[in-house]
Amino acid sequence: MSIIYDSTNRLFILENERIEYAFFIDGQNYLRHLYFGKKISPFSFSTSIDLGWDWSKTYLTPKDEEKVYADSYSSSTSMMEAPSNGRFDHRGSLISIKEEDGSYLTDFIYKSHRIYDGLPKLEKLPFATLNNGKASSVELILEDVLSHAELALTFSIIDGYDVIIRTSRIINNTKKDISIKRMYSLALDLPSSEYDLIHFPGDWSLERNVSRNRLTQERVVIESEYGTSSHMENPFNVLIEHQGNEDYGEAFGFNFLWSGNFRFEVNVDKLHSTRALLGINDSNFDYLLKEGEEVELPQGIIAYSNEGLNGLSNVLGDFIRDHIIRFSKAKEYRPLIFNSWEGCYFDFTTESILEYMNKAKEIGSELFVLDDGWFGERNQDDRGLGDWFVNLSKIDLKKAIDHCHSLGMKFGLWFEPEMVNPLSKFYKENPHCSIGHTEINRELSRHQLFLDLTNPDVVDNVAFQVNAILDEYEIDYVKWDHNRHIADNFSYYLSKENQGQVNYQMLIGFYSLCKKIIDTHPNIFFEGCASGGGRFDLGVAYFFPQIWCSDETDPVQRLYIQYGTSMGYPLSMIGSHVSKNQITSYKTKSDIAFFGTYGYEFNPTKLNEEEKKELLENLELYHSLHKDVILNGDLYRIYSPFDSNYFSQIAVSKDKREAAFIFANLRKENNSYRFVKLKGLDAKKRYVNSLDNKVYYGDYYMNVGLNLTGWINEFTSVMVVLKEEQEQMKGKEK
Ligand code: GLA
Repeated sequence: MSIIYDSTNRLFILENERIEYAFFIDGQNYLRHLYFGKKISPFSFSTSIDLGWDWSKTYLTPKDEEKVYADSYSSSTSMMEAPSNGRFDHRGSLISIKEEDGSYLTDFIYKSHRIYDGLPKLEKLPFATLNNGKASSVELILEDVLSHAELALTFSIIDGYDVIIRTSRIINNTKKDISIKRMYSLALDLPSSEYDLIHFPGDWSLERNVSRNRLTQERVVIESEYGTSSHMENPFNVLIEHQGNEDYGEAFGFNFLWSGNFRFEVNVDKLHSTRALLGINDSNFDYLLKEGEEVELPQGIIAYSNEGLNGLSNVLGDFIRDHIIRFSKAKEYRPLIFNSWEGCYFDFTTESILEYMNKAKEIGSELFVLDDGWFGERNQDDRGLGDWFVNLSKIDLKKAIDHCHSLGMKFGLWFEPEMVNPLSKFYKENPHCSIGHTEINRELSRHQLFLDLTNPDVVDNVAFQVNAILDEYEIDYVKWDHNRHIADNFSYYLSKENQGQVNYQMLIGFYSLCKKIIDTHPNIFFEGCASGGGRFDLGVAYFFPQIWCSDETDPVQRLYIQYGTSMGYPLSMIGSHVSKNQITSYKTKSDIAFFGTYGYEFNPTKLNEEEKKELLENLELYHSLHKDVILNGDLYRIYSPFDSNYFSQIAVSKDKREAAFIFANLRKENNSYRFVKLKGLDAKKRYVNSLDNKVYYGDYYMNVGLNLTGWINEFTSVMVVLKEEQEQMKGKEK
C-alpha cells in the first residue's frame, strides 16, 4: 500500500520502499505538513504531532479561552501544504485570489478526498506518466473560505522512485469570476534552516553554473521572467543539509513540468523553519478564471535523497527517463549525430552538403543533421523564420536526403517553429502574428519576434507548414530551436481581461504546437534547443528526450556546463558535441562530449588523419557503452571544476557490469600523487580497467582508487572504461 489513510487522526502517509511523506487535516480543516524524508515507518501520529508548533512551549501561551484551535494551530508557525495568503503566515502563500470585494485573503480548507491507483493526467500541460511499476495518488478538494473556489490538490508517489508529485487545478464553481494573482505548484515546509541552497545561474553559452549558499534568516528568490525557463536560472533547485556533499546528506530537489516564467522562493523565518515554494512567476500575472472554468497548474515534483547530490541526481535521472520523457525510443541506442551548424553555418550548397555527408560517414556518423539555412530566404539570420518551405535554389533537399540514406545514415532537419522574422513572407502576409503592442517599439532579438501562440490559428498555421515538410520528406530527426525570449507580453488575440495570462497561454500554445507536430510523428526523434540550453526543463523533456545543452562547445567551458546540468537532469538529455574548438585535442573534446549524448559538429572536410584517428578511438566505445552506461546508467560526480582543478565523473550501467570514467584537468600540475577513488561500482565484482588493463575488485577502485599519479599538462583528459571481468572475457571470446 503506497498511501495510508488513518481516518481517526485524518493522517495521510505516502510511502514507498525508501521515502515517506506525511500530512494531516487538523481540527480547523487545514492541511498540515508533517514529514518528508527517509522512510521511518511505522509513522506514528503521536510522534508526528510533536513536529508541529506547541503553544505550551512559547512565552506567548494564550489563555484557555483564547485557544481557538484544539490542536495548537498557528498559521505562522505550523507547517502547511497550502499556505494561505494575506493572513498571519508571512512565509509566502501558495495561491492568491482576488475576491469580488477586493480582498486578497485566500485560505484553503479541506472538503473531501479520494485515494486511487495511478497518476493524474493533465489536459493541456505536460505530466508525469506511469510507464512502469505502481503508483498511488490522493486527490484532496480544498475550498477557499472567501471565494469558495476549489483547489484540487493531488499528491502522488510511485514505487521505486523517491519523488512526490503534486498536481493542482483551481476550479471556479462559484457563481462569479475570480482573479488568480498567484498559483504556485509546490510548497514544502521544513522544521529546520540547516540547509544550503544550490541553484544554477548562468547566461547564454554559460548555462547552469553551480551556486551554493548557506541559508540564513532571509527570503531568497530564484526566478525567470524571460518567458522561458531561461539560460539565467533553472527551475531545478536543491536544498541540501549544510554538512551534505555529493555523497552524503539529505537533499531535496525541486522542479516542475513547465518551460515559462518561474519563481522558486525559499523563506527562512525568525523561527528558523524553511519554506520552499515553486510555481509560475506571479510577476505580471493575473489569471481571470470565469465562472464554471478551471485552470491547470504545472505539475510539481520534489525528489529526496539521503545520499547527497549524487543520490539526488540518480533519483531524478530515473524518474525523468522513466516517467517524464515520453518518446518511445528514448532508451534505445541513439545514432551518432553529425550536425552541420558549426562547420558551415548558412554557407552551403547541395554539393557541399553531400561532401559533408561523405566525410561525416567516414568518422562514424549515423545521423546527419542539416541545421539552419535550408528554408525561405534564410542565408543569414535576419530572414526566413516563418517560411517553412525549402529554398530550392539553395538546396536540393530530396537529393541530399537520398544521398544521406544511401550512405546508411539517418537524416535530420532544423526548425524554429515558434518564431518569425519581420523580413519573411509569413510576416508580410500575417502582420498580427506576433506578440507585442503596436504602440511600443518592439525589440527584436536575433532579428526575430515571437509568434502569438495564444492564438490557435497561428499555432495551426505553423503546425501545418512544419508537418507538410515532415510528411513530404523522409526525416528521422528534428532539432527544434527557440532563439529569443518572450517579451512585450501583449496579445491582440486575448481580451483585455486576459492580458495577465499572456505567458501562461503562450506556453499552452507551445505545448499545443508540440502535440500537433511531435505527437503526429511518433517515429521522429525531436531534440530541443534554445540558443543552446536556454530552455532546459521538464516541460521540454516531456516532448524532447534530448536538449542541446549549450551553444558553448569549447570543451573547457563545457566541463562546467555539463557538470551543473547533470545535477538535475540525466546524461541522456544533455546534448553534447565534439566541435572544431582549438583549445584541446580531439580526444579530450571527445572524452568530454562522451558524458552527454555525443555527436560531431565541425567541418569534416578539414580533419587531418591524426584528428580522425583521435575521434575513432572513442567511436567503438560509443557503440558498445553509450546506451547502457551513459543513456541509461547512473552518474556519480567525483571532482567538481567549480571547486577543484578537476572535472571527474563515472557513469555506471544499472547492472554495474560496465562503467566509463573521465578525469579532466584545467591547470597544469607537476608530478604528484593522484589516486582517484571511483564510485558506484559493485564492491564484490572484479573489473578490468582500460588504463593498465589489470583486474581489481570494485572495492579496490572505490577505496584505493585509480592511479593517475604523475605530471599533467593543462586541459588534458583520461577516459577509463571498466568492465566486469567475465564481460571482458566474453568480449575476447567473440
Ligand atoms: C541556435 C542553436 C545553434 C544553431 C543556431 C542556428 O543558436 O543553439 O545550435 O542551431 O541556432 O541558427
